[in-house]
Amino acid sequence: MIDLSLDREIPVLDWGPHLSGRVKRMKSSAIRELLKLTQQPDIISFAGGLPAPELFPLREVEEACRYVIRTEGDRALQYGPTEGYLPLREWLATSMHKYGVPAVPDNVLVTNGSQQALDLIGKVFIDPGDFVITSRPTYLGAIQAWNAYGARYQTVDLDDDGMVVDQIEEAYERAVRESGRPPKFIYVLPNFHNPAGTTLSLERRQRLAEIATRLDLPIVEDDPYGALRYEGEDLPPVCTYVPERTIYLGTFSKTLTPGLRLGWIVCPEVLMKRFVLAKQGADLHTGTFAQFVANDICQRGFLKPHIQRLRRVYKERRDTMLEALAEFWPEGCSWTHPQGGLFLWARVPESIDTTEFFKRAVEEKVAYVPGVNFYPNGDGGFNAMRLNFSYSPPEKIVEGIRRLGVALKKELGMM
Ligand SMILES: Cc1ncc(COP(=O)(O)O)c(C=O)c1O
Repeated sequence: MIDLSLDREIPVLDWGPHLSGRVKRMKSSAIRELLKLTQQPDIISFAGGLPAPELFPLREVEEACRYVIRTEGDRALQYGPTEGYLPLREWLATSMHKYGVPAVPDNVLVTNGSQQALDLIGKVFIDPGDFVITSRPTYLGAIQAWNAYGARYQTVDLDDDGMVVDQIEEAYERAVRESGRPPKFIYVLPNFHNPAGTTLSLERRQRLAEIATRLDLPIVEDDPYGALRYEGEDLPPVCTYVPERTIYLGTFSKTLTPGLRLGWIVCPEVLMKRFVLAKQGADLHTGTFAQFVANDICQRGFLKPHIQRLRRVYKERRDTMLEALAEFWPEGCSWTHPQGGLFLWARVPESIDTTEFFKRAVEEKVAYVPGVNFYPNGDGGFNAMRLNFSYSPPEKIVEGIRRLGVALKKELGMM
């Protein structure tokens, strides 16, 4: 008799031989494991890249949901075009144009956050063994997306003016030597870099455009934080200089809410159909309801004053963190001074390995992301860490930085 009871013990199969090579390339991220430790309520976490939840526009989202259901429910709950909801694409094209990204609705594709855009870029461009040129450190989520497609990385340094673009040609040469073909694209985070907090200078933006043109390389410009500037002048996106070779990525995650999962790609029209086909296979289209809701909020002109409010609150949190670092951290530490965004990058004395030190920090009830995780080849960041300043209120920022200062002093034998 075969036991068909639903409570029976179900054997565990060995799935290994059935899995794709791609899945085997997806390494479980060390930081996800570490971050599980930070879920305890008494830990002050500077680890995630989370916006401040108390600033989510609950009332406006609620009103937009009601309005959309009442007036357009039949369309808002239906399947939609892969490219995205046209009125939202029109709004995005106009706002991108004002920002300096040449856009018309036909070259805007709505995605499930910019994380999906990164994945689609991997799907469309990367064959196993291809090289991508990026800064060292760089955005962890991009590495994770592209590793699945078998990407390799040639990296260039990063300093206070952002990616050191003059090293790109050498990185290009190395890629050609090692793979026998040119790298696929240059990945750049121009504003308030994740994780480093730095901004690419105007001069380097122009140089980057020149170098990419000379080498005939596409540029992937990932810009989730551009609207969150707390000091200094806005700079033109790299896309302004070379729209014909730039794939620009934007998102509502940091300016509205990440839970809607809405981002967008602006790219040359000839590339649109490639991305559309890649996206069709992944999810047919981005959630229609979320797009209608975001469109309603945007069309009402809510976003601009909301971003002003975010800037005020996040600037205060950034300043609080900078002041607390100066007050509580021992000598021999340094950190970046981000002009916007959500993160700063701190360095501690070389004798401290921030991955090892993480356990001590958690004992002191405070968390961060160890720097090595942002190095695509694992070749640096050993004494660095990424600190997020948007999520915690100022009093927690002060307390968390104080706790980290205590842990550092204990580690250095100063306490
Ligand atoms: C540089 C960068 N790119 C992409 C993303 C993904 O954002 P989302 O998928 O929420 O739009 C993030 C999120 O933190 C990011 O920092």
